[in-house]
Amino acid sequence: MRSVSIIGFGQTRFGELWEKGFREMIAEAGVKAVQSAGLDGKEIEAVFGGTMASGRFIGQEHIGALIADQLGLNPIPSTRSEAACASGSIALRNAFHAVASGDHDIVAVGGVEKMTEIDVGATSFALGGAGDQETELFHGATFPALYALMARRHMHDYGTTEQQMAAVAVKNHKNGMLNEHAQFHKEFTIEQVMNSGYVASPLKLLDCSPISDGAAALIVAETGKAKKLVEQPIEIIASSQSSDSLALASRKSLTELAGTKHAAKTAFERAGIKQKDVSVAEVHDCFTIAEILAIEDLGFFKKGEGGKATEQGRTALNGEIPVNPSGGLKACGHPVGATGVKQAGEIFLQLTGKAGKRQVKGAEIGLTHNVGGSGATVTVHLYRRA
Ligand code: COA
Repeated sequence: MRSVSIIGFGQTRFGELWEKGFREMIAEAGVKAVQSAGLDGKEIEAVFGGTMASGRFIGQEHIGALIADQLGLNPIPSTRSEAACASGSIALRNAFHAVASGDHDIVAVGGVEKMTEIDVGATSFALGGAGDQETELFHGATFPALYALMARRHMHDYGTTEQQMAAVAVKNHKNGMLNEHAQFHKEFTIEQVMNSGYVASPLKLLDCSPISDGAAALIVAETGKAKKLVEQPIEIIASSQSSDSLALASRKSLTELAGTKHAAKTAFERAGIKQKDVSVAEVHDCFTIAEILAIEDLGFFKKGEGGKATEQGRTALNGEIPVNPSGGLKACGHPVGATGVKQAGEIFLQLTGKAGKRQVKGAEIGLTHNVGGSGATVTVHLYRRA
């Protein structure tokens, strides 16, 4: 396999973007990524796009072709990936393989979702499609409800508290204040999170990621070529993916994502590094409990200690392992198909020293963790300066 690096990144602001359509968001993120790599677009040989439910959200399918057309890239191949909220990172993984195999030298990766055109009930139903239709969605379970089940069990087994979950939200909203592209620029106290009203007990409004619009794009190249094009390419040193049952009821445990554990083990083995080597991580905090599960299952903290570690500031921007400097899904927003691409983009900014006020000092190795549904698809990527 050839070495593969990221050489450019661009994104729209995430949020309720009434003024921007699906196509405009693709164009904005794509053009910014191409410019960030110092290219003019003609060098791109293929496009890999991720979007979860554009058919339900805006009535548009066939997104691969739409992206190429919108970016003026016809007739190069352009392919859509769908893996629920992990659609963007699967697109990145497909791009990684296309370049690693020698099929292409320079490709573009995009992630996009327009979720705010329909009402919140219809959005919840569309998101619910990432779970198990027969045993969950059909019976009325929403995503907040599924993660609430995991939170309850984690509280029962390990003594995790609602305050500890609130600490995840407080940290990520604080980080989001430093990100101009974040949906929310508002700090909250633990008390405000605790009083924000239950959506699905024990998860409250401020334990949830929001409903968002947005797009993000990356340019990926063979590392030798990448070094000739930009000053500091960021090498993808491992790309791994795992699968698990769609239905929570079919899993052995509600307090861990087996997919995260498996994908992390594979990624760390492939890269030949350990958790202690990671300087900064973007993890899938679709709900605050999800970040606690992630930091445990990725191996940064022992099972049951993620809540306490967050409360102690160990995952803060100046902590021992800064988690979600972008604000995460919680504060930066979660346009589902775009999230995995934005996570990789944030690590690209961190490792190239371009993360501005939220820069993690001396960041050398980065990790992204992206989850589809309640854990049926999980990807882990590891990165370092090439
Ligand atoms: N975090 C912080 N603030 C939020 C928020 C969130 N997740 N969701 C909404 N808000 C804010 C809004 O900005 C608004 O503030 P304002 O009154 O100051 O303008 C207020 O809360 C009410 O917003 P509204 O749009 O009416 O909320 P809603 O009831 O329609 O939606 C949720 C709230 C939690 C139900 C919705 O965000 C949700 O379903 N989130 C989960 C999404 C999900 O499941 N994603 C997939 C994960 S796998």
